[in-house]
Amino acid sequence: MVLNLFKRDKIFSPDQKIDEYVITRLLGEGRYGICYLVSNGDKQFIFKQLKREMLKKTKAKAAYEWDILSRIQHERIPKFVKKVENDKFYGYVLEFIEGRTFEEIIFEKNYVFGKKEILSVLRQLIDIIKYLHSVGVVHRDIRVPNAIYHEGKVFLVDFGLARWMNHERYRQDVDFSYLGDFLIHLYYTSYETKGEKEKPWYEELNLTRHEMTFLKRLMGIEARYEKIKEVEDDFNLLQE
Ligand SMILES: Nc1ncnc2c1ncn2[C@@H]1O[C@H](COP(=O)(O)OP(=O)(O)O)[C@@H](O)[C@H]1O
Ligand SMILES: [Mg+2]
Repeated sequence: MVLNLFKRDKIFSPDQKIDEYVITRLLGEGRYGICYLVSNGDKQFIFKQLKREMLKKTKAKAAYEWDILSRIQHERIPKFVKKVENDKFYGYVLEFIEGRTFEEIIFEKNYVFGKKEILSVLRQLIDIIKYLHSVGVVHRDIRVPNAIYHEGKVFLVDFGLARWMNHERYRQDVDFSYLGDFLIHLYYTSYETKGEKEKPWYEELNLTRHEMTFLKRLMGIEARYEKIKEVEDDFNLLQE
């Protein structure tokens, strides 16, 4: 890597070019990277620029997202397009996924998810996790800003914290507690506060016995799931 790590990150403005891609706009700046919407002709892409600060601290780890994304393949996960690196920056281009994040849908649109729709979202998230765990990847950041919803389809983005599984350090069950928290966000969209004192989610939400046990096990309040297959089996009970 020839990058001078002590300079400030270059922030690109609209219409500037990176390789053959033209910046449309800045999408967000996270802890590790700066994310842009870019285009090449009439096709849109995502360009993720890694921050110097993060490269400095964890040079070896910097490449996890592109390493993982370039080795896996799933229709609900953005495809890795290419690396772009030079003396000014270090980044990569990903497939652009149309739609809105669950964070926008829940907190900006105030959309209410009914139980049937929650089950459909959950089924799709379980399928994505099933695929990831089967190829030895833990995502470690399955949260509402990192999942995109488009015409009823769920996509998972942001592999910045994803790692190849390692049974001591990077365990698959972290994805289950994030999945539980994600679900609680969906259930709360239909919750109306009656002005009472705040209670924990398992007292506030109106859940069936199966839903309650399922969520408590995901969250590790009751016996934690170890494998996605167990999660899937209990998910199937929710439908009854
Ligand atoms: N492949 C993608 N397609 C569409 N939007 C994306 C894609 N990747 C990221 N985004 C959007 O950009 C935001 C930031 O990207 P993300 O990968 O989550 O990085 P970070 O959280 O580190 O800033 C996401 O919350 C999402 O709104
Ligand atoms: Mg993110």
